Amino acid sequence: MADEASIEAAAACLRAGGLAAFPTETVYGLGADAGNGEAVARLYAAKGRPAFNPLIAHVAGLAAARRIAIFDADAEKLAAAFWPGPLTLVLPKRPDAGVADLAVAGLDTIAVRVPDHPVAQALLKAFDGPVVAPSANRSGHVSPTDADHVLADLRGRIDLIIDGGPSAVGVESTILSCLGAPTLLRPGGLAREQIESVLGHTLASAAVPADDDAPLAPGMLASHYAPKAGVRLDAQAPRDGEALLAFGPAPAFAGTTFNLSPRGDLIEAAANLFSHLRALDAAGANTIAVMSVPRHGLGEAINDRLARAAAPKE
Ligand code: TXA
Ligand code: MG
Repeated sequence: MADEASIEAAAACLRAGGLAAFPTETVYGLGADAGNGEAVARLYAAKGRPAFNPLIAHVAGLAAARRIAIFDADAEKLAAAFWPGPLTLVLPKRPDAGVADLAVAGLDTIAVRVPDHPVAQALLKAFDGPVVAPSANRSGHVSPTDADHVLADLRGRIDLIIDGGPSAVGVESTILSCLGAPTLLRPGGLAREQIESVLGHTLASAAVPADDDAPLAPGMLASHYAPKAGVRLDAQAPRDGEALLAFGPAPAFAGTTFNLSPRGDLIEAAANLFSHLRALDAAGANTIAVMSVPRHGLGEAINDRLARAAAPKE
């Protein structure tokens, strides 16, 4: 039941790095603290996502949104017209947003949404920080619009769920990129025409996969952080002049080394993946030798991401 005690329990769960499912007006979300990389990694593991797609950061209102993202004039207009509501805006991320790299797949942009649901609102106010929340279903399944759907999919894989009854909208939020000319990335609960009437012109659309849980197609590499350095996979040992991205016990090496998880933990490795790739780029690495990472659990998504990073650049 969605009373004050259950909302406080959910906020405490998020603060402790747990996973809490909650109702929104579109679909139920599976929430984690956006600032906690390991909590975000556990969220991908619970969903069984084969790839790290960037997540939507949920906040209680415009003031909280401004702490994580930068708004231009169009974004201001749209937020004023449609928030709270089923509209997600992709915006430049503030450098001091305090959001884990894994939550945004290493991007400098962030998807922000202010849900129009009393339980979601109460939870976001009690938690007092951004909450990432994909739809609360196993990867490849349909989005859940009531608490029973969530339990059918995720029982035993999440810490708690707040039951707020059925979701009124029933489809996910409309996603609009405001990085330049506003572009429709995902049709959803807010109609294109309503957005166009506020902007005063028609909207461009970008092709995106219909199923947001599917791994991104090769043409969508821009949706993930792409390292500048070359990447050599399944390296037994780094060569002279390379930098090393290690996993587990690393070989002795004088060059720049970052370790995804010295103790060989895939949750920790996922949480570090994008930050370490960025750090290796920042250190001026020309080629990154990557030790092999097991392919079970989150290792599937980590290997998916590493394979994309190693793909020849256009
Ligand atoms: O209605 C909704 O939006 C629900 C409820 C729970 O709020 N959430 C939801 O999240 O549908 P999810 O993770 O299932 O879908 C998020 C979509 C993905 O397609 C992802 O690629 C896109 O948002 N996305 C997130 N951040 C992005 C970014 N920085 N740039 C482009 N696309 C982004
Ligand atoms: Mg989804």
